[in-house]
Amino acid sequence: MIKKCLFPAAGYGTRFLPATKAIPKEMLPILNKPLIQYGVEEAIEAGITNMAIVTGRGKRALEDHFDISYELEHQIKGTSKENYLKEIRMLLEKCTFSYTRQMEMRGLGHAILTAENLIGNESFAVILSDDLCDNNQDIGVLLQMCKIYEKYRCSIVAVEEVALEDISKYGVIEGREVGDDVFMVDNMIEKPSQEEAPSNLAIIGRYILTPDIFDILRETKPGKNGEIQITDALLEQCKKGMVLAYKFRGERYDCGSIDGFVRATNVFYQKIQGN
Ligand code: G1P
Repeated sequence: MIKKCLFPAAGYGTRFLPATKAIPKEMLPILNKPLIQYGVEEAIEAGITNMAIVTGRGKRALEDHFDISYELEHQIKGTSKENYLKEIRMLLEKCTFSYTRQMEMRGLGHAILTAENLIGNESFAVILSDDLCDNNQDIGVLLQMCKIYEKYRCSIVAVEEVALEDISKYGVIEGREVGDDVFMVDNMIEKPSQEEAPSNLAIIGRYILTPDIFDILRETKPGKNGEIQITDALLEQCKKGMVLAYKFRGERYDCGSIDGFVRATNVFYQKIQGN
């Protein structure tokens, strides 16, 4: 039912400099696979085949990654190395990729609004690929959210409980539980101080958004850090109608931080070792 997934990928990745000086942060690999490919695979698992990517200057590696590389493929044709391309080839057969550029960095809300033409008038998913989600043998987070969307047909944000000292890194919700791990949102604040935080439920990089979000974003004034925040637009949507928060099953790694990146690398490595 949700057919499109949006990947905001225009950010500078400053937390990972100098690695991200010439390489998009979405291309940093966990083992041998770039972060964005994990995101695309999670979307495919949720039945989504149209990927919409918001890029920016210096992000061409993203487009090249989701394309055929004739020279390389010719070189390794018929050798055992061809196996390494099996996964990405299958993915390219299944999906379409469209791109648009965000010319100025004016926040996540602005990045999402930039993709309006790629999405159109339908509900869509959003994945921030530096939040890598591991489903621990369960279904993926986006598929879990799509199932909830089928029931409620409104915008949904994924949340997890975080420690108080980390709360100011996130959008934070306040809500009451209306179903198993599903909360009706009453309030949400972008990157609150510990005193302001209405709960310990932090939004992580998975969203399902209904298309009226675009009209709201157009009217949303810059908020925290002078940026147009998706959290502010969602709060508006929540006042006009309803927004849900879903405490997902699985483990999330903040691969935009060195700590999260290393933890994810270790966990994924243990997995391929069969531990
Ligand atoms: C963005 C959102 C924030 C959310 C976070 C999840 O912040 O603005 O609400 O909690 O992603 O990763 P950013 O990490 O881009 O500063």
